[in-house]
Amino acid sequence: MKLFDVYPLNNITITRAQGSYVWDNNGVQFLDMYGGHAVISIGHTHPHWVKRIEEQLEKIAFYSNSIIIPIQQQLADKLATVSGKNEYQLFLCNSGAEANENALKLASFHTGRKKIVAFSKSFHGRTSLAVAATDNPAIVAPVNETDNVIFCPFNDEAALKKCFKEHGADIAAVIIEGIQGVGGIVVANDSFLQLIRTLCTDNGAVYIADSVQCGYGRSGQFFAHDAAGVDADIYSMAKGMGNGFPIGGILIAPHIKAKHGLLGTTFGGNHLACAAALAVLEVIEQENLISMAKQRGMYLMNQLKAIDGIENVRGRGLMIGFDVPENLKGLKKKLLEDHNVFTGEAKPNVIRLLPSLALSRKQADEFLEALKDAIQELQ
Ligand SMILES: Cc1ncc(COP(=O)(O)O)c(C=O)c1O
Repeated sequence: MKLFDVYPLNNITITRAQGSYVWDNNGVQFLDMYGGHAVISIGHTHPHWVKRIEEQLEKIAFYSNSIIIPIQQQLADKLATVSGKNEYQLFLCNSGAEANENALKLASFHTGRKKIVAFSKSFHGRTSLAVAATDNPAIVAPVNETDNVIFCPFNDEAALKKCFKEHGADIAAVIIEGIQGVGGIVVANDSFLQLIRTLCTDNGAVYIADSVQCGYGRSGQFFAHDAAGVDADIYSMAKGMGNGFPIGGILIAPHIKAKHGLLGTTFGGNHLACAAALAVLEVIEQENLISMAKQRGMYLMNQLKAIDGIENVRGRGLMIGFDVPENLKGLKKKLLEDHNVFTGEAKPNVIRLLPSLALSRKQADEFLEALKDAIQELQ
């Protein structure tokens, strides 16, 4: 049977991983500045994470949400402590798209309304409503097309005010990434997020903070939206939440009430996924990874700004992007093939850095040296 060919692949087979390194089937070591697409939060195969999963696996891996699963409450309690969102409620699912799908659906149930405001260059996932709120017509199937999503320009306060003036009474939710990932590492202005908070409150709409990529400590705060001093009504999470074990979830503000049957999932919140997610939070806490991400990110960003050739270095914490000018077009490929460094990209010309939050200073320097060498070789 052939695999359905939807991914352009690098010709590399990774067989082992630890911390910020991975090794291929020939034993060649690579530095992972991509974190497997922002997923690796505490480092590949962290021993505490492995131990927790193994211990859970010996006991029970799965039972349905028809019984009490105490590790779900343990996860919720730890999440409250680490995120500081003590009053929020937790609903668990399996992926980022599913988290956003549930967030949008819940906003519609809660308000009884249909319109969703999303932004230019947004990415929220590939399920029906999440993809409809994603600004990329190429991945929206005809069946997912809807008039219920209104796109506004990102960081444009006047346009957002106008949109609320025209549609305020129909708007169920505003969904926004604190830092756009797929859109090319674009940080939402603090004043823009504050305006969203005010407009949502004044118009009875739900503020959804898509924190799938920029959340879980990556920005140097638990949620990137925290930098603006605002509380969203719903935070969606996935990627770093399980450090590679599939799990997603939404944090829901206390004024949004649950009802039996309102949301549901077969696999979401299973014992094994919760063990992985709990291990992630324990390591984030024990190793102080949020402030590590902040420090390391500042260091990397300052060093990158001093490198000739690359442009427009931006981001927060360990979510960093820079533009690659036309004369260095092959930079990402060169870093991978000649310097054994994985990086991410955003079309058309952005390199995205999304390493583990435990990236060491030595590894950051190793990347900077490789980058300088690769630039020189291309010039
Ligand atoms: C901001 C954001 N939201 C949602 C998603 C979708 O997550 P998943 O691929 O787990 O469905 C992504 C994935 O890249 C993302 O970056």
